[in-house]
Amino acid sequence: MSGTHKFYTLPEPSARKGFSSLKLKEGPVPRPEANEVLIKVHAVSLNFRDLIIAQNGYPLHLKQEELIPASDGAGEIVSVGNKVTKWKQGDRVAGIFTQAHQKGSTPDKDEIKTALGGSVDGMLAQYVALPDTGIVRIPSHLSFEEAATLPCAALTAYNALYGIPTEQLRAGDTIVAQGTGGVSVFALQLASAAGAKTIITSSSDDKLKKALSLIPQHLQHLVTTVNYKTNPDWDKVALEVTNGAGVDHVVEVGGPGTLEKSFNSIKRGGVISTIGFVAQGEPPNVAYHALLTGAYFKGILVGSREQFEHMNQIIEDHQIKPLVDKVFPFEKAEEAYAYQWSQAHVGKVVINVSH
Ligand SMILES: NC(=O)c1ccc[n+]([C@@H]2O[C@H](COP(=O)([O-])OP(=O)(O)OC[C@H]3O[C@@H](n4cnc5c(N)ncnc54)[C@H](OP(=O)(O)O)[C@@H]3O)[C@@H](O)[C@H]2O)c1
Repeated sequence: MSGTHKFYTLPEPSARKGFSSLKLKEGPVPRPEANEVLIKVHAVSLNFRDLIIAQNGYPLHLKQEELIPASDGAGEIVSVGNKVTKWKQGDRVAGIFTQAHQKGSTPDKDEIKTALGGSVDGMLAQYVALPDTGIVRIPSHLSFEEAATLPCAALTAYNALYGIPTEQLRAGDTIVAQGTGGVSVFALQLASAAGAKTIITSSSDDKLKKALSLIPQHLQHLVTTVNYKTNPDWDKVALEVTNGAGVDHVVEVGGPGTLEKSFNSIKRGGVISTIGFVAQGEPPNVAYHALLTGAYFKGILVGSREQFEHMNQIIEDHQIKPLVDKVFPFEKAEEAYAYQWSQAHVGKVVINVSH
């Protein structure tokens, strides 16, 4: 395919000054290599990481030159390289966050350097060429806007709940999900689908209502909502819900400001998946707390292709619909970034690329 397309760029990291650094440019449509597919991108979703990368505050490996941002996008294949046999024109796909991470729950030190919209160019473009191993088929019941929410937030929640083979989530378990952002709302949906209980926290009763409304009526009894502004003691609620035993999993997106309560909430030998850092505070002594609770304390970096495929099967089997909070047109990407930064959203913020 020839011609030009539009795409966003951020300048080299040291020149990034926040969301106004996003520039809409025009250039030649990428040409897929022999083992690549060319994707017409229909939708992109934003993650907290994208906001931090635009502000040059991201601690992990980054491309040091101009970058096409955003890790998460979904679209359709428009052409394939001459060595590609698994994919064909018209297939509906999403990119994998860490392109080279094919199996297992933890990428190795080389794989980590293939993260879209960070280490390598990402998805905020009308056309993207990716290796045939760097994509997955999207669930058939989802629109492109819904499917664009899966690569980072959903897979991270999945990896937290299913990443340790001996400790995978089961019916009857209890989890804590912190806040109503992308990762936490997916954790709520995956846990409910598995027949597990969720304690979900938020700064807002309205956001909690919206999150609860996502869960089918007959499963809503599995969910306990806690407003952490009016009731900061969600760790005590976690103990009440589990008759003092503690929860099986904490999907830890708060970081320094929530870790102590996560350790108060966890059962002996439970899993705290350390994921993010949205809550300010003084971190506790993790070594001491891990010793005291016998908890697994596992760092998560999204997930692999194998995990993405398994998660999509769960999403399809349970007809899970991601919560798309708001959709912005391609030309208004900067507004989408600012909206997510304001934390007015519940679930996911999406940019429609192909309207
Ligand atoms: N390690 C990984 O692989 C990975 C992958 C994805 C994301 N992350 C990280 O995980 C975190 C969440 O990402 P996201 O994309 O889900 O973010 P997001 O959609 O932007 O959501 C952020 C949400 O955090 C909640 N929050 C803020 N302060 C809080 C507090 N003190 N306690 C509990 N919740 C609080 C807010 O919800 P309420 O207003 O409802 O409280 C807010 O909407 C970020 O730090 C991100 O970098 C890491």
